[in-house]
Amino acid sequence: MQFLSKKDTPLNEIVPNGYIDIHSHLLAGIDDGVKTIYQSAYILEQFENLGIKKIITTPHIMQDVWPNTSKTITNKLKELKEILPPLGISHIEVQASAEYMMDDLLFNRLKNNDILPLHQNYILVEMSTFSPPLNLTEILFEIKLAGYTPILAHPERYSFYRNDLKKFDKLKDSGFLFQLNLLSLSGYYGEDIKSFAKKLVDLDYIDFTGTDIHNYHQLGVLEKGFESKIAEKISHLMMKNKAFS
Ligand SMILES: [Fe+2]
Repeated sequence: MQFLSKKDTPLNEIVPNGYIDIHSHLLAGIDDGVKTIYQSAYILEQFENLGIKKIITTPHIMQDVWPNTSKTITNKLKELKEILPPLGISHIEVQASAEYMMDDLLFNRLKNNDILPLHQNYILVEMSTFSPPLNLTEILFEIKLAGYTPILAHPERYSFYRNDLKKFDKLKDSGFLFQLNLLSLSGYYGEDIKSFAKKLVDLDYIDFTGTDIHNYHQLGVLEKGFESKIAEKISHLMMKNKAFS
């Protein structure tokens, strides 16, 4: 596989100083991410070794599947932060927000002013990888009305947009920012998503990056890095996350 090639540049060689990861699933047992708090700690220790300065972890909030509340998330964050210093993990800063599925539950949360923003007024949102929500315009309206700027998680994974970049132009014009998964550029989700990710990078569609890490396997893939010919570009792109300082 491509990401095992000797020509690859490992992630630790390209992580910009002070990198902030804005997408991960590192609160144990509340979504499809890590299963135990020690798995979180191990990944955070490796992130610290990579030179990552801060993570804002983003458990799923999804109606019927993972209807997490702001309280379940902040409680889990508190538990995690308590075990880090005794384990000697003290440099990486850990915060929590959420990855909001654009569904009816998000409507309710917006109406009740029960949102955990990523940073300032940014919120991370996703849609199904099978089809966009029918009421996307309405959802965007509600997000903006509540005063938030949506960052669309992993646009490169929505294959229904692959041959229709005009729809992406429309999303950007209407106010979405785009967050690319570094794992997409590793080839983790397959060659089609990798090449679409590269195209979006080349065409300057990407505002921010994130790992979207869920487990040890993905950590291994991330650490192996990227094809050398795109490594420099990725490093440059990763600098944009300074906006979350
Ligand atoms: Fe995610």
